Amino acid sequence: MNTASSGKASPAAESPLDRVLALEMVRVTEAAAIAASGQSGRGDEKAADQAAVEAMRAAFDLVPINGTVVIGEGERDNAPMLFIGEKVGAAAPGAPQVDIAVDPLEGTTITAKAGANALAVLAIAGKGCLLNAPDIYMEKLAVGPGYPAGVIDLDKSAEENVAAVAAAKGVAPDQLMVCVLDRPRHGELIGQLRAIGCGIQLIPDGDIAGVIATTDPDTTIDLYMGSGGAPEGVLAAAALRCVGGQFQGRLIYRNDDERRRAVACGIEQLDRIYSLEDLASGDCIFAATGVTDGSLLNGVKRVRRPDGEPIITTQSVVMRASSGTVRWVEGEHRAR
Ligand code: FBP
Repeated sequence: MNTASSGKASPAAESPLDRVLALEMVRVTEAAAIAASGQSGRGDEKAADQAAVEAMRAAFDLVPINGTVVIGEGERDNAPMLFIGEKVGAAAPGAPQVDIAVDPLEGTTITAKAGANALAVLAIAGKGCLLNAPDIYMEKLAVGPGYPAGVIDLDKSAEENVAAVAAAKGVAPDQLMVCVLDRPRHGELIGQLRAIGCGIQLIPDGDIAGVIATTDPDTTIDLYMGSGGAPEGVLAAAALRCVGGQFQGRLIYRNDDERRRAVACGIEQLDRIYSLEDLASGDCIFAATGVTDGSLLNGVKRVRRPDGEPIITTQSVVMRASSGTVRWVEGEHRAR
C-alpha cells in the first residue's frame, strides 16, 4: 500500500478514533470494491451488491473496533448482514466503541452497467455522532470549501442559492456548474437551473460522489442540488466534514410509513434542516475505494506486472475530520 498525504493539523487528543484506524478502514472499502468489481458490467445489481456486502462484512472482522452499524443495508429482518444495529469488528478489550455508516456498493446500477463513479464507502465516528437516518429520500444542497458560512440555504430557491454562490465566487450565475441526479422528480429544479443558464451535470446515480465533487475544482462542479438517499446524505456529510464545504439536508416523507420509520430512528423534528455537524459530528473518518473509474477515484483494475504476476490495483481515499488529513491510497493486491 503506498500512501500520499496532505495534512493540515494535529488530530484532536480526545477523539475516540485511533489514527491507525484510517488505514484499517481502507482495507475494508478495498475488500468491498474488489469483490463488487468482479460483477462490473455483468448486468446483475443484486450480485454486485451482495459481493460487496459479504466482503465488507468479512473485512470488518479483522478491525480492532467495537463497532455498531447505524447506517447499513437495512433493518435486521431485511438484511442478512451489515444491518442496522449489527455489531462488527474484532471487539478486543479496550477497542474503541464506534458507530459505522456503510454503503458497501454506492452505485449498484452503475456497477451492473460498468458506468462511472461506483464506490465502496464507509464512515466511522464516536457513539451517537452519525445521524441514524432512515432509508428514505433527503433533499440535499452542497457547496465546496472556501465560501462564507451560510452561503447556501435549503429554505431558499434554487435561483437564490445559485445567485449567492455565484456572488461569493465573483462570477455571473450562468457561469456555475450544478450537479443533479438525472431523475424525473428533478424536472422542475432542472427547469429553474436552465432558466438561469448555468451548466447542469446530470449524473445517472451516485450522489455521494456528486456531493464530494463540489470540493474538487477539477470537476468544475460548484453546487450539488436535489434529492437522493438519506443514508448517502450522511456519508457525504461525513466526507465534507473532513475535506471542507457546506451541506444541508432535509428528510422527505412520501407517506406516513416513512414518517413512522423516521420516528423509529429517533428523529424528533421531522422537518428540520440538518447541517454537516448535525449529520456527522465530532471526529469521524470517511473512506472510499473506487469500484469503477470516476471523478473521485479510479476503479479496480486487474492487470499484470511486467514479470507476468497478475495483480489487482485499487485507489482509495481516506479522510479524518479532526486533522483534516486526506490520504490517497494506491493499493496493489495479489490476484491469486
Ligand atoms: P444504490 O447504489 O443503492 O442503487 O444507490 C445509488 C443512488 O444513485 C444514490 O447515490 C442516491 O442517493 C440514490 O440512489 C437515489 O435514489 P433513486 O435511484 O431512487 O433516485
